[in-house]
Amino acid sequence: MSASPQTAESNARLASEETAGGSVIDLAFTVNGAAQQVRVEARRTLSDVIREDIALTGTHLGCEHGVCGACTVLVDGQPARSCLMLAGQAEGSEVTTIEGLARPDGTLHPIQQAMMDAHGFQCAFCSPGFLMSAVALLDENPEPTNAEIREELSGNLCRCTGYQSIIAGVERAVEIMRSDDADTKTDDDAEGATS
Ligand code: FES
Ligand code: FES
Repeated sequence: MSASPQTAESNARLASEETAGGSVIDLAFTVNGAAQQVRVEARRTLSDVIREDIALTGTHLGCEHGVCGACTVLVDGQPARSCLMLAGQAEGSEVTTIEGLARPDGTLHPIQQAMMDAHGFQCAFCSPGFLMSAVALLDENPEPTNAEIREELSGNLCRCTGYQSIIAGVERAVEIMRSDDADTKTDDDAEGATS
């Protein structure tokens, strides 16, 4: 099991928390397929632990009170606002962040490619949250309607794009995934015919 290195900063925080009589917990969970063990103050949020202790800063913090959706990650496949979750609530869970979408060889996830194709971002501060919400939608419903996409993403805020290009990006991801499925089926059929 891989463990996160405890930084000097987090060690100092732990020492001061314990000195102040606060509680500290040992947390074990999986992030993007890698097992993580961290010792953290019980009061800390999942977003802070992901960003500061595990050093995955792709999860962004906008409002830090559950409004903007920039901090969205998947917890056991479900979208969650990591600024509203205590890290301890993720004990034993599988967490996926934006860094976990691309394949190890660097091939982008269809939603990442689609957002680039559709120019679905400007400053991109909101993008990690939008992408994780879109992944959760497409996992559950690979052929969402325009209205379903709008409904699912209505909890994520963007201050730049006007949203149209983000919706177009999700629709483009549907096309890419449909085409990938068709290619896989064609390959399987060809393999079956020659075996
Ligand atoms: S930072 Fe979590 S919802 Fe805004
Ligand atoms: S692209 Fe800038 S906030 Fe969405």
